[in-house]
Amino acid sequence: MHATKPGRYLEPRPRDFTAAVFKCRSTPTGSLPLDADLYQTLERGVHASAMPSWYALTKQERVDLIAYIKGFSARFKEEKPQQALSIPAEPVASQESITRGKDIFRKMECSKCHGAEGAATGRRPPRSWTARIRDNWNPRTAGAAPDKTLDADER
Ligand code: HEC
Repeated sequence: MHATKPGRYLEPRPRDFTAAVFKCRSTPTGSLPLDADLYQTLERGVHASAMPSWYALTKQERVDLIAYIKGFSARFKEEKPQQALSIPAEPVASQESITRGKDIFRKMECSKCHGAEGAATGRRPPRSWTARIRDNWNPRTAGAAPDKTLDADER
């Protein structure tokens, strides 16, 4: 059998533990995650990805796994994770907040997919536009992936 990189065909790709950059965190951007964050990821899995829930493992097994995977990056030895962000209560909607939201809706071009009246009448923007939506790992976000719900000429 020839060697194939595991996860090569998965979208999104499996997390590269050597970089120690994690999406599912309670800590600020740029910070390592807390052990509790990694624990929750193992328990919950990652929705809309190939990563399953490892709920069937015992608590001790999950704790042991976290101790082990942290060893793939020197960052966990050299840095401490920052404190978890505290999430304040949801702000009350006001006429001003609605006006600000309308402004962001226009600026972020939400209507290109959701339509100006929010009735999902927008056409999918061209690939060149969605290709600008990137995350830390992958130049292609879900928004930039081919949309199988559209007819071939709309893709
Ligand atoms: C590139 C196209 C695209 C853009 C741009 C876009 N959306 Fe979406 N949005 C979608 C799609 C597709 C879904 C449906 C996802 C699904 O069903 O899983 C969705 C779903 C949603 C949902 C519903 C999620 C749910 O729980 O059902 C909300 C709310 C939303 N978008 C808000 C926004 C806002 C606000 C913006 C602008 C900042 C925005 N979207 C920009 C494509 C887009």
